[in-house]
Amino acid sequence: MDELREEALSALRDASDADAIERWRVEWLGRADGRVTSLLRSVREQPQEQRASFGANANALKQSLESALAARQEELRRVQLEALTTTSALDVTLPGRPQELGRLHPVTQTLRDCIRAFEEMGFRVAEGPEVEWEKYNFDGVRIPQDHPARDMWDTIWVDKLVDGRRQMLLRTHTSPNQVRVMERMEPPIRVIVPGKCYRQEATDATHEWMLTQIEGLAVDEGIRMSDLKGVLYEFARKLFGADRKIIFHHSYFPFVEPGVEMALDCFICRGSDPSCATCHGTGWIEILGAGMVHPEIIDNAGYGSDRYTGFAFGIGIERVALLRWGIEDIRHFYANDLRFLSQF
Ligand code: DAH
Repeated sequence: MDELREEALSALRDASDADAIERWRVEWLGRADGRVTSLLRSVREQPQEQRASFGANANALKQSLESALAARQEELRRVQLEALTTTSALDVTLPGRPQELGRLHPVTQTLRDCIRAFEEMGFRVAEGPEVEWEKYNFDGVRIPQDHPARDMWDTIWVDKLVDGRRQMLLRTHTSPNQVRVMERMEPPIRVIVPGKCYRQEATDATHEWMLTQIEGLAVDEGIRMSDLKGVLYEFARKLFGADRKIIFHHSYFPFVEPGVEMALDCFICRGSDPSCATCHGTGWIEILGAGMVHPEIIDNAGYGSDRYTGFAFGIGIERVALLRWGIEDIRHFYANDLRFLSQF
C-alpha cells in the first residue's frame, strides 16, 4: 500500500490541468472501478486474520489520496488565477478602445454659418443679456405696456420687484439689442446680435420655449429698403444655394415701418407638391421678419431720423436648421439624443 500511495501521489503531481486531475481521480478513486475503490472491495477476500488491518490501511490510503486531491486542485486554482492577473491584465493583442469625438450641435453649426454669411457682408457681432429689462425688450422697441405682443409672447418674468413691479424677464427676442447697440455706437452701424430667447410656449413640432435668433441692424445715411433686400437675398443664397428666389410680404412689427416677412422659394418641392411638409404647397417658406427701423427709434437714439435711416431683421436659427436638413420636428434639437445629434 505504501508503494501504491507513492505511485498515486507522483501521478497526481504530474497532473497539471483540470482534465488530467479528473482522469487521475477516476483512475484512483472512481466509484466503479478506481484502484483504491477496488482495493477496499477486496477486503473480504483477505485471510480472516488480516482483514481488519488491511481494511484500516486501505481506508487510510483512500483518505490520504482524497486530501491530496483537494490540495492539488486548490494549488492549480491559485496558479491559474495568478496567470490571469499577470498575463491577461496587459493583453497587448486587444484592440484599443475608440476615443469618441464630439462635434458641434446642428443649431450651433447653423448659427455659425449664418454669422459668417453676415460677417462676409461687413456686419460685426455684438452681444446682449439674456435676462433683459422690460424697457429694452418692450418699451424701447415700441411695444408699450398694453400691447398685445406682451401677452402673445407669454413672457417669462423674473420674480423680483423693482419699484414695486416686475421689470426683468428672459428676453423674448433679440430686438432689444437694436436699442442697446444704438446706445453705445454711432452710425454707420452694421451689427448682428446672435443669442437665445425664451417664451413660455407649449412646445410642438415647430415651437420650442427656448429659441436662437440673430438680430441684424444697419443704420447709416441713405439706407433704403433695397439695401435690406440685397443683404437678405445674399444671405439666402449663401445658406440655401445660389439659385434661391425670395419674396417679401408686408407684415407688422412695432419697431419697423414698413415691416416685412421674407420667404424663400421651396427648394424641396419647388412649389409642385400640394402636400409638401416644408412649404405646405404654397411654394414659399417664411424664414424671417424684417423692416426699416422705425424713425421714432432712430430719434430716441439721438441720431436724427431726418438724416439717418436703417433696416433691421430677426432670424430664427432653429427654423433655418430645420429647413436646410429637412428635419421634421424642432424638439429633436434639445432632446439630447445622440442618435439624432450625431447625424450632423
Ligand atoms: N423680433 C421679432 C420676433 O421675435 C423678429 C423681427 C421682426 C426682428 C422684424 C426684426 C424685425 O428686427 O425687423 O418675432
